[in-house]
Amino acid sequence: MDKDIKDSTWDEAGNGLDVLDRFEYLRNFYLRATKKIFHNFYKKNFDGTERVLEIGSGLGFLKRNWPEEFKGEWIQMDSSHYLLDEAKKRHPQGNYLEASVYDIPSPDESFDVVCGLSSFDTFYNLEDAMQESTRVLKRGGLFFHFLDLQPSSDPIYNSILEGYFLPGLEENDAGGLSDSKSIISYIPYDKYEAYLKKIKKLSVDDENDTLLDSILLEEKIRKKYSKQIDQNKYFRSKILKSFSDLIETDSINWGTLSAKFYGKRTQQQKQEGNIFLFTRVPDYKYLILLLFSSLSPKFLEFYFKSLVMKIEPSCLEVSYIDYVSARKTKNDSMY
Ligand SMILES: C[S@@+](CC[C@H](N)C(=O)[O-])C[C@H]1O[C@@H](n2cnc3c(N)ncnc32)[C@H](O)[C@@H]1O
Repeated sequence: MDKDIKDSTWDEAGNGLDVLDRFEYLRNFYLRATKKIFHNFYKKNFDGTERVLEIGSGLGFLKRNWPEEFKGEWIQMDSSHYLLDEAKKRHPQGNYLEASVYDIPSPDESFDVVCGLSSFDTFYNLEDAMQESTRVLKRGGLFFHFLDLQPSSDPIYNSILEGYFLPGLEENDAGGLSDSKSIISYIPYDKYEAYLKKIKKLSVDDENDTLLDSILLEEKIRKKYSKQIDQNKYFRSKILKSFSDLIETDSINWGTLSAKFYGKRTQQQKQEGNIFLFTRVPDYKYLILLLFSSLSPKFLEFYFKSLVMKIEPSCLEVSYIDYVSARKTKNDSMY
């Protein structure tokens, strides 16, 4: 089997650069909160002298925002020649390696840390990617993966294609929100015939129905015959399964890390208008604060214009990152 199925999104032709630039633009709205998450994680898990391999580093967002007190070695590895060239051009001081996660050109047990940010969810063969990542990790070393985007749906489509015919996928992509639902629907092989029959019958029976009626009926039939996959749950359970096949399960941690930051707005934040709350997940806890913070400057401006010219109220950034982490057991004979 060809393990290294190329995800063309990250090629020059796939506009990978535009995609990553867009991610970085969005991430900048709550960057100071995200950096707090990185810092807390670093304090808990690093001593600052580690040899780190970051897999699927793209333009290097993780390394650039990692705590400055880190003094070890950090290699940014990516299979995209095109993205690495751009990363080198923008940040020449980085340490770059062009290679695929399925064939890492490093000896066994040569890194203290192997990690990735929103990269392992894009790998088509997660089991093999984990196997190879664990191979180059020292005993007692740390693996971690952070996900600050919606897990990629491409590998999920790919694995469903092996078992089911797809008459068309529906995706409710909420755009990079780890807490919100993002569901992929599909019709399993064994239900496909029955599904088709119903759809055909529908077009014969309902000739006089309005277009809306037939869309609604079709939707109802789809719902009845389809299965749903929650992308977040799917990725999380798959990565945990790969881990537990390779590493003793009690050393695995996973969940959502979060942090808040209060402070003056950045230029980019100011350009968004009168918004004083920046977060990736539409967290309704903060809705009143959002309303208050967006209305109060207008109110103040109306009554105390000269005062408002001088005061820039503080904003709140809230960041969330899904994570999975594990230490390779010291005396494991699986490798
Ligand atoms: C969603 S991007 C994330 C980039 C970066 N970590 C970030 O969060 O901005 C996924 C990255 O994985 C890389 N990638 C895809 N397949 C890979 C493979 N087989 N080996 C190594 N990197 C790969 C892509 O080139 C891309 O840079």
